[in-house]
Amino acid sequence: MPRILVVSAGPSPYSGTEAVGEHVAARLTEAEWQVEHLRVRALPPAALLGADGSDPVVGRAMEEVSGADGIVLATPVYKASFSGLLKVFLDLLPECGFVGKVVLPLATGGSAAHVLAVDYALRPVVQSLGARHTVQSYFLLERHLGRSNGSLRMSPESTDLLDSVLEQFREALIMAAGRGTPGAGPRP
Ligand SMILES: Cc1cc2nc3c(=O)[nH]c(=O)nc-3n(C[C@H](O)[C@H](O)[C@H](O)COP(=O)(O)O)c2cc1C
Repeated sequence: MPRILVVSAGPSPYSGTEAVGEHVAARLTEAEWQVEHLRVRALPPAALLGADGSDPVVGRAMEEVSGADGIVLATPVYKASFSGLLKVFLDLLPECGFVGKVVLPLATGGSAAHVLAVDYALRPVVQSLGARHTVQSYFLLERHLGRSNGSLRMSPESTDLLDSVLEQFREALIMAAGRGTPGAGPRP
């Protein structure tokens, strides 16, 4: 069973990106995959900013990355790039921190003008960490997101597109694990 780590990197306690991360983690859990959701904002700030890998909480986060087969990186677009919080976290990883892993980049943003921000800014960083395969990224416009009774509401169009991106992620993980042809495993 592939192990998935969803890393969400919105700094706000009301982060829409984090809610998307929760949604993705729930969808993948439905497929009976082993899923953890790491909220970078919950890591100890001094250890995070001081790149202190000896901090037990930060150390555990590093182990979660190392033990995952698939990583979902969920970030808000800030200033036409991915969040500084995500960069601080990625900078903690060893040079080959994503070797052998399948990575799915996800972003939320306010403007369709920045729909490519993940591809030009985050994708090269993921490649530099040695990811085996980075699947098609997905950008969610914040106006397609909302909350109702504390849970995430997404436009039907966004939900369908996100599902199809998760399907590609699932197929890439199955291929990477050498478990046979796409379509043979559990569906998100
Ligand atoms: C400091 C800041 C900078 C932002 N810069 C951009 C930007 O350059 N492009 C964009 O499309 N949206 C931008 N936004 C909008 C956010 O990407 C959008 O509101 C996102 O959904 C916020 O996610 P969060 O709730 O997880 O923080 C910015 C928001 C903030 C607070």
